[in-house]
Amino acid sequence: MKNKKEYHIVRIADIFAPLLTEKKRIKFYYGGRAGGKSYAFADSLLLKGRQQKLLIACLREIQESIKDSVYKLLCDRISLYELNDYKIFENRIENYITGTKFIFKGIRDQDVQHIKSLEGVDIAWIEEAQTISKKSWEILEPTIRKDGSEIWISMNREQENDPIWIAVAAHPDERTLIRKVNYNNNPFCPEEIKIQAEKCRKISPDDYEHIWLGEPIRQGNTKLISSELVRKAFANTILSSHSPLVIGLDVARFGDDSTVFCFRRGRWCSKFEVYNKLDNVEVANIATNYIQDNQPHRLFMDIGGQGAGVYDILKDRGFNEIIRGVYFGEKAINENRYFNRRAEMWDNVQFWLSSSPQVQLPQDERLFDELTGINKRYDRRGRLQLEEKDEVKKRLGRSPDKADALALTFAEPIYDMREPQIYRKGQITVEEIFNIQQNRGNNSW
Ligand SMILES: Nc1ncnc2c1ncn2[C@@H]1O[C@H](COP(=O)(O)OP(=O)(O)O)[C@@H](O)[C@H]1O
Ligand SMILES: [Mg+2]
Repeated sequence: MKNKKEYHIVRIADIFAPLLTEKKRIKFYYGGRAGGKSYAFADSLLLKGRQQKLLIACLREIQESIKDSVYKLLCDRISLYELNDYKIFENRIENYITGTKFIFKGIRDQDVQHIKSLEGVDIAWIEEAQTISKKSWEILEPTIRKDGSEIWISMNREQENDPIWIAVAAHPDERTLIRKVNYNNNPFCPEEIKIQAEKCRKISPDDYEHIWLGEPIRQGNTKLISSELVRKAFANTILSSHSPLVIGLDVARFGDDSTVFCFRRGRWCSKFEVYNKLDNVEVANIATNYIQDNQPHRLFMDIGGQGAGVYDILKDRGFNEIIRGVYFGEKAINENRYFNRRAEMWDNVQFWLSSSPQVQLPQDERLFDELTGINKRYDRRGRLQLEEKDEVKKRLGRSPDKADALALTFAEPIYDMREPQIYRKGQITVEEIFNIQQNRGNNSW
C-alpha cells in the first residue's frame, strides 16, 4: 500500500523531471493556470527532503499569514502519501529522519536580520513569482548563497516586464533552466479544469492566452510613455535654455521613498536632486536654497502627503509667488480629458517627450524604469487614467519619485515670462540691470 503511494509521488510529469535530476542554480517554470507547477514543486521538494537534510525556504512577495503560503499544499501532499517521517508544526515542516526543514516567508516583510537567516538555505522556492518586486529579487538572489544552493521559481507571467522575468528569464545563462508548462502539458489536469479553459478560449481569446497559456497581458498600447521616446531624450544634448526655470518637488511619503527635485527649463531637463530621510524643515531649507540660488519662476510640489507641511513653511517664508501646491488626486485642469491631475501631468510629459524640436533628459536608468513603467487606462467617461500607484510600486519596488517630480514641472503652463517680483525687490545690482538690458538688446527675452 505504502509502496504504491510512493510510486505516485515520483510520478512527476516528464517536464518537471529536471527539478530532481539536474543541477542548476535557477529552475524557472512558467505558464498558465493548472500546468501542475505547484504540485510538482511540492512533490519534488518533499521527495528531496526525504533523501538528504535540506533547509527549504518557501517564499513569496507578501505572506501575511501561513495560509498564503504553500504550507497547506505540502501538508495535503504529506497526508495523501502518508509520509509519516514529516512532522507538521504550526509554521514549519520537518523531517525527523533526515532533518530537512521547510520554512515559509514573505520577502517584502523581512528585515535584514531575517533575510540573513536565509543564508543557509539549500533550495528556495519562490511561488507566484510574477508578484516579486525588483527590490525583493535583488535582496534575495545574493542571500541564497550556500554552495550548491538552488532557486526554484514558479510563475504565471503578468506583464511583459515582470521584474523576475527580466532578471532571470529574458536573457538566461547556462546556470538557468527554463521551462514553459501549461494545462495541456499536465497529464494530471482534471477534466473540469480543461472544460473551464475551453470555455474561456471561446469567450475571450485574450484572457485565454494570458490565464491558460501563460502569455503576459498584451502591452500594446497600455504603456503611457514608450522606451524609444525616453532613449531619444537621453541622447540629446541641449545644455542651455533661455526658458524660465521650473522646479518639480516630490516629497517622500513613507520611509523608503525619496524626496526629489527636478529642474527643467523648456525643452531642457537638466538635473534631478534626490534626498532621503529628511524632515519637513530640512526639505523646506533645501527648497529655499534652490529658490535663492537658481531663481525658478515656479516650484510645483505635491501636497497630497508630507508635502503639505513643506508647502506651509515655504509659504510662511514669503515664497507665495513661486510655489504652487498640487494634489495628484485632484481634478484635472482639463477635466473632460483626464481622470485626475496626475494623469494630466504625466500626459504632458508624454507630449513634451514627443515634441519637436526634441527635448533632453539626464541619462538615468532609474528615471527610465519609472517613466516607461507606468500603464494607462481609461475610465468610464473615456478619460485618461494612470494605473494605481500601488501597482507601479509593486513592479518597481519603489515609488516613481523622479518621474513624478518631472511630471510636477508640467503642473501648469508658464505663460508669464517676466521675472518674479521677489527676485527684484530692491536687491538688484547695477550690474544685473546692465545685464538685463544687454539681454533685451540681444532679443533673448
Ligand atoms: N502530481 C500530480 N498528481 C495529481 N494531480 C496533479 C498533479 N499535478 C497537478 N495535478 C492536478 O493539476 C491541477 C493543477 O496543478 P497546479 O500544480 O495547481 O498547477 P499550477 O501551479 O501550474 O497552476 C491540480 O489542482 C491537480 O488537480
Ligand atoms: Mg500554482
